[in-house]
Amino acid sequence: MKIGFYQFCPRHGDPAGNLELIKEGLAGSQFDLLVLPELASTGYLFDEPTELYKISEPANGSGPFLRGLTEIARTHRACIVSGFSERLDDALYNSAAAVDENGVLCVYRKVHLFNTEKELFSAGDRGFPVFFFQQVCLGMMICFDWVFPEAARSLALKGAQILCHPANLVLPWCQTAMVTRSLENTIFSITANRTGAESGQALALNFTGRSQILSPRGELLAQAGENDQDLRIVDIDPADSLNKRFSAGNDLFADRRPAQYQL
Ligand code: ACM
Repeated sequence: MKIGFYQFCPRHGDPAGNLELIKEGLAGSQFDLLVLPELASTGYLFDEPTELYKISEPANGSGPFLRGLTEIARTHRACIVSGFSERLDDALYNSAAAVDENGVLCVYRKVHLFNTEKELFSAGDRGFPVFFFQQVCLGMMICFDWVFPEAARSLALKGAQILCHPANLVLPWCQTAMVTRSLENTIFSITANRTGAESGQALALNFTGRSQILSPRGELLAQAGENDQDLRIVDIDPADSLNKRFSAGNDLFADRRPAQYQL
């Protein structure tokens, strides 16, 4: 299975422009699963929630960004996972959608909101769903979810073989921490970060790039630079994530002791 990420700098407030960037960036490439950054449709910081609301769209795939992404997925006969701003009635969610040639396969709403995201978004309320593409079990988490090991663990316990992880990282620790998330769950992970800078909401943020793909043993299979626009695709066997054996005497999941974890 060819899996990858596209690291780029989304245009602020311009979903149509970002669709074009994504289409151009992926043109001519072959992949089965590709992950894009968090909020790749809109950019990240908004002083006015109403400005973001106008360019947000429903999770059912009827809006222009997810429709366009579905067309790109159709061209590549692939699954694409992207962050987008989801609108539901008066609420906004910082969400990720997985689309294939037929439309939306699954939507995840970010559970652990970071810092000023709380001014714009409601927190995700539907847990961590898994879905299948090419008979491989996939899960999504978004950016700051990395710091809560329960996110990756919940997905792995549900059978996820690959963590799709759209991100807009501004702190320095995620790329290193994800080695542990992959290793402790014996699972592939694709962290798709963005580049560039934004200001708003009384903040000036630099996004840290260094998107990466990790194996179930925590090995770095691909990594982008800090500032580069970069498409990276690697060939993997998703079945490598199914064996949870850590030593002759240890199976990571069978050896868990939930009764001992009670508070
Ligand atoms: C983040 O969750 N975007 C840092």
